[in-house]
Order: sequence, then structure tokens, then C-alpha cells
Amino acid sequence: MKRTPIAAGNWKLNKNSNEAKSFFAELIKSRPQSQNCEIIIAPVAISIESSVEAVQGSGIKIAGQNCYHKNSGAFTGELSPSLLKAAGCTHCLTGHSERRSYFKETDKDLSLKNKAVIEEGLTAIFCIGETLEEREAKQVEQVLERQLTYGLEGVDFTATQLIIAYEPVWAIGTGRVASPTDAQSAHAFIRTVLTRLYGESTAQSLRILYGGSVSPDNIADLISQPEIDGALVGGASLKPELFLPIISAIEASHA
Ligand code: PGA
Repeated sequence: MKRTPIAAGNWKLNKNSNEAKSFFAELIKSRPQSQNCEIIIAPVAISIESSVEAVQGSGIKIAGQNCYHKNSGAFTGELSPSLLKAAGCTHCLTGHSERRSYFKETDKDLSLKNKAVIEEGLTAIFCIGETLEEREAKQVEQVLERQLTYGLEGVDFTATQLIIAYEPVWAIGTGRVASPTDAQSAHAFIRTVLTRLYGESTAQSLRILYGGSVSPDNIADLISQPEIDGALVGGASLKPELFLPIISAIEASHA
């Protein structure tokens, strides 16, 4: 099964509108010509509209970093899937470990969020991954299976409406990347669970990204693994000079 690879950037709480515009100008000018990899960037919410404008015609897609599961109402401070869509987003991250740990998002919250995002016609980039404690306790598979089973409970989707990002929490922002073999085996396990839940054909079509300290130095080894369909990049997505070689390596691996 040929799956189009993805280079996705999660800017977290970084970059105002002007900084976003300069980043995209540089990225569009210097990106590889082949364009056989999807590029998706998740800016802060307030920079989404200027980012959408900046990438117009380039094929680069813009994602929300988070949203609430309702489209309107008395929910002060929240942002909805329909507002993200109206602003020009095509994707939204869900379940990032920072949302799970700092903002106490549960598997149940995430099933509502995944459902709302997908029903609005956006693609959910659903993040899962174990903590260091869970890895040391040999609970990786148990945790991934729980996050997938409950985080997707009651969610109807086609293979283009969902992307899974495997992001081991201990690898995020730490410089401590998962080894290509550990990442490959987690991805293979994720695909096995998806096969059991949704059948062979859907599971084979879904893209599974690796995230956690991805850099120009480690991307080639990661992306050469058959079950790794791309990367969700934090720190190294903030600078074109770091993100561009990551895109090129992903492109080259699937050329
Ligand atoms: P990192 O973040 O690449 O800075 O480790 C990845 C993420 O949180 O998505």
C-alpha cells in the first residue's frame, strides 16, 4: 500500500503572524520541487488566517493545534472545528501530550474532539504515546491500545480523515529521539490495533507519523522504516533551515 508521506510542523506557542509569514515565504521559495510529500503546519490560533493567506496556491496545509468539541455556545476562550474550517484549516491536532498533561484531556474528551473535528470535514492528527514511566513499566502496548480504543470510540472516519501521530512523551522536546527500531515496532503495533478495530484496508491506508525530537540528523533513519509515514516536528519546524532538510529527507525516501 502506497501512503503519501507527511512532514507536519507543530509550532506550539511560538510565532506571531509576521513571523509566520516570513517562515512561509522562505519555505515556499526553498522547498523541494518534487512535492511528493504533504506539508502541514499548525500555527498558534491567532496566526492561522495570515498563515492560510501566506500558503495560498502552494499546496501547504494549515492545521489547528486544538479545538473544543462543540461548534458554538457559552464556552469562553474556546475555538471550534467550524471556526478552524472557516479560517481555512484542513487539519487539527488532537490529543497532543501537552494537552493531555497540562490541560488534563482524557481519552473520553478526545473521542468527542476527534468526532467533532472529523464531522466538520477536517482531518484529525490524533497524537498518542507513552510516558517514560509507562515505557519503563513495559506498558507501551497497553497504553497505545487504550488511547486508540477510547480516543476513537464512536468516531466514524475514512482513511483520509485521520492521521495518527506516535509521540512518545519522553522524546518530546528532550533531544532524546526514539530509536528507529523502537519507533518502527510501536508503529507496527499501532497498525495491528487499527486493523483489529477498523479492518485491513483502512489500517493499511492510514498514515502514522513519528514525533519527538525529530531533526535533520535523525529523520533519514526514521523515515526509512516501513511503518513510519512521516513526522510531526516541534522545535525543528520553527526554522526553515531545519524543517527544509526534514522535508527533503521524507521526499527522498518516497521518491
Ligand atoms: P519536538 O516536539 O519535535 O520539539 O520534540 C514534537 C511535538 O511535540 O509534536
